[in-house]
Amino acid sequence: SLASIYPKDTEAPPAGVDDMTKLAYLHEPGVLHNLACRYGLNEIYTYTGNILIAVNPFQRLPHLYDVHMMEQYKGATFGELSPHLFAIADSCYRAMINEHGSQSILVSGESGAGKTETTKMLMRYLAFMGGRSGTEGRTVEQQVLESNPVLEAFGNAKTVKNNNSSRFGKFVEIQFDKYGKISGAAVRTYLLERSRVCQVSDPERNYHCFYMLCSAPPEDVKRFKVGNPRSFHYLNQTSCYEVANVDDAREYLETRNAMDIVGISQEEQDAIFRVVAAILHLGNINFSKGKEIDSSRLRDEKSINHLKIVAELLMCDEKLLEDSLCQRVIVTPDGNITKPLDPDSALQSRDALAKTVYSRLFDWIVDKINNSIGQDPDAISIIGVLDIYGFESFKVNRF
Ligand SMILES: Nc1ncnc2c1ncn2[C@@H]1O[C@H](COP(=O)(O)OP(=O)(O)OP(=O)(O)O)[C@@H](O)[C@H]1O
Ligand SMILES: [Mg+2]
Repeated sequence: SLASIYPKDTEAPPAGVDDMTKLAYLHEPGVLHNLACRYGLNEIYTYTGNILIAVNPFQRLPHLYDVHMMEQYKGATFGELSPHLFAIADSCYRAMINEHGSQSILVSGESGAGKTETTKMLMRYLAFMGGRSGTEGRTVEQQVLESNPVLEAFGNAKTVKNNNSSRFGKFVEIQFDKYGKISGAAVRTYLLERSRVCQVSDPERNYHCFYMLCSAPPEDVKRFKVGNPRSFHYLNQTSCYEVANVDDAREYLETRNAMDIVGISQEEQDAIFRVVAAILHLGNINFSKGKEIDSSRLRDEKSINHLKIVAELLMCDEKLLEDSLCQRVIVTPDGNITKPLDPDSALQSRDALAKTVYSRLFDWIVDKINNSIGQDPDAISIIGVLDIYGFESFKVNRF
């Protein structure tokens, strides 16, 4: 049994080592002990060769990320200064310039580990290095940075593990011209969690944008026909409506502001929030048995009213919308056959519509951001930053 005991590195300094390749024994307990020693001294970053390990500090550490810090890491030899994500971004940028090749930074870890925050800091550093100083207005780098709050409003939600959990994967491609300046960018997103739109359980929330809209200024609440989040089925399946330290009303205004910067016009923003509101009302439409066997109809006056509002917000025909929920069209070689749906199936088609509309809305926003930032067809090289979701394991998996 002695063989299963891990040897201790007796010569390791009490404060830990900043590069774990310096450890005499590179086994899991040794690595964890080293990270814990450093964390205790507020050192959240540690290298293992040229890989950076970040431990979430769960508190703001502004001094770590200010411009002064960026200046220090600019051009510094890798490993000369304390481990930091700016060192990773800097060596990446220099490798791109010196070797004329594209680079990628991969950020991975479990949910809540700090991937998204890290990705944003990496992008800030690259914007600092490749930005055009002195240019006014909406620069590419500003647009790239402001695309984060927009995507987070529609693609992030409070989960058990993380109050701002990304429910999609993201690859940001920053393009550089021959002078090493940012000349374009593209954002690619992967697999938005659609099921959350219709199904949320305690203590989680639906996507942030729904609560933002419900907390919008009174004129917008009226215009988009929303109100208390407790009155919407898609939000009241859980008793969690607020997130600690998040003011949804302020987030609404900030999201709109970020949308302005990434080039989404006021009319387009209104259209986006109309769709968000329509989804909430769609969720309040209920069905009961219809006259024919296995058919359904709107359950009551309330459902009729919500359907009216959805049709109005989506600018579509009320009757066609109702048919699309209560009927199914089967395409056959001999033509289309329309079949009524029972109340349970109608409910499913309601939820399917909500999920599809929401994920199309998300894709549309991503497309819009990409078109407005613009791609540089003559880009010499790119730096890609991948923020891939955290791992979670559920008892039941849903789509
Ligand atoms: N470097 C940091 N400094 C301060 N706080 C941080 C830092 N990194 C993470 N956090 C805190 O941890 C929270 C979770 O981090 P983040 O959203 O980046 O996790 P994630 O890895 O992207 O998780 P998910 O996979 O769920 O999206 C942040 O909202 C923030 O409060
Ligand atoms: Mg994230």
